[in-house]
Amino acid sequence: MFDKIIGFIGAGNMGSAMIGGILNASLVTTSQVIASAQSPATLERIRTRFSIETTHANETVAERSDILILAVKPHILEEIIPQIAPRIKNGCIVVSIAAGKTLASIEAMFGRKIKLVRAMPNMPALVGEAMSALCANDSVTKPELAQVQAVFDSFGKSEIVPERLIDAVVGVSGSSPAYVYLFIEAMADAAVAEGMPRAQAYKFAAQSVCGAARMVLETGEHPGVLKDAVCSPGGTTIEAVAALEEGGLRTAVIRAQRACTAKSRAMSET
Ligand SMILES: NC(=O)c1ccc[n+]([C@@H]2O[C@H](COP(=O)([O-])OP(=O)(O)OC[C@H]3O[C@@H](n4cnc5c(N)ncnc54)[C@H](OP(=O)(O)O)[C@@H]3O)[C@@H](O)[C@H]2O)c1
Repeated sequence: MFDKIIGFIGAGNMGSAMIGGILNASLVTTSQVIASAQSPATLERIRTRFSIETTHANETVAERSDILILAVKPHILEEIIPQIAPRIKNGCIVVSIAAGKTLASIEAMFGRKIKLVRAMPNMPALVGEAMSALCANDSVTKPELAQVQAVFDSFGKSEIVPERLIDAVVGVSGSSPAYVYLFIEAMADAAVAEGMPRAQAYKFAAQSVCGAARMVLETGEHPGVLKDAVCSPGGTTIEAVAALEEGGLRTAVIRAQRACTAKSRAMSET
């Protein structure tokens, strides 16, 4: 059993997805998680949903946590770090998931060297299928980074990356569930156009995406090899593949992802 107290400052979409993921995986018990948020409504919702301790006081979360996850919007870091900086425990590992906030900029807000990890998870944390990237400053030891990685692995998969790749991570996994939802919606629309009930169409489309993704991860085959295996000569699938190529699917995806990565990089520079 993981013997750390994990604190969350911010329990909105991402914070609550991570809390749910950690508890579903039984990495820790409910008494080992504490969270703060701004509104009484969120505090009540989180307490009822997860049976964890909640508080309006960010300082209390900072004082109690061995691993302190900052899950607020990026601009809120400037407000909360001065509150919590004098209160964090000796040896506490601070983890920021804020898009666009670099290790150096967060260290500067603390005004001193702290153990700091920058992470980029994604929303499927809620169902134990997140993809997260982590990078750390040089105050974090390898065993400490492994502890933080265990937290992120409890609700999905993770990789350690150099910080210069974090903007690419935002494009390929942080934001990409949204692109996949568009793809699922479009596939379902086409099935609905053929008369399939809407709910059934989402199930067919989503499970096909899920299965195809697992084939890539679990067989280790090149995606092109897997695609070729589905495309019988003169068959139905190659007709769809040809139409997708004509519609510029790959170009559209690459352009979209590069726009997302560029936006992330621009946010880091401001
Ligand atoms: N959403 C994603 O897919 C995703 C993916 C990767 C990383 N991120 C990063 O995750 C972070 C959170 O994003 P989100 O989508 O979860 O945002 P969100 O849903 O708006 O949640 C933000 C949380 O911060 C709380 N908060 C605001 N001011 C606070 C304060 N002064 N003290 C304590 N808590 C405060 C809010 O409380 P109330 O609920 O009471 O308002 C809310 O619970 C962002 O930095 C984002 O860049 C998000």
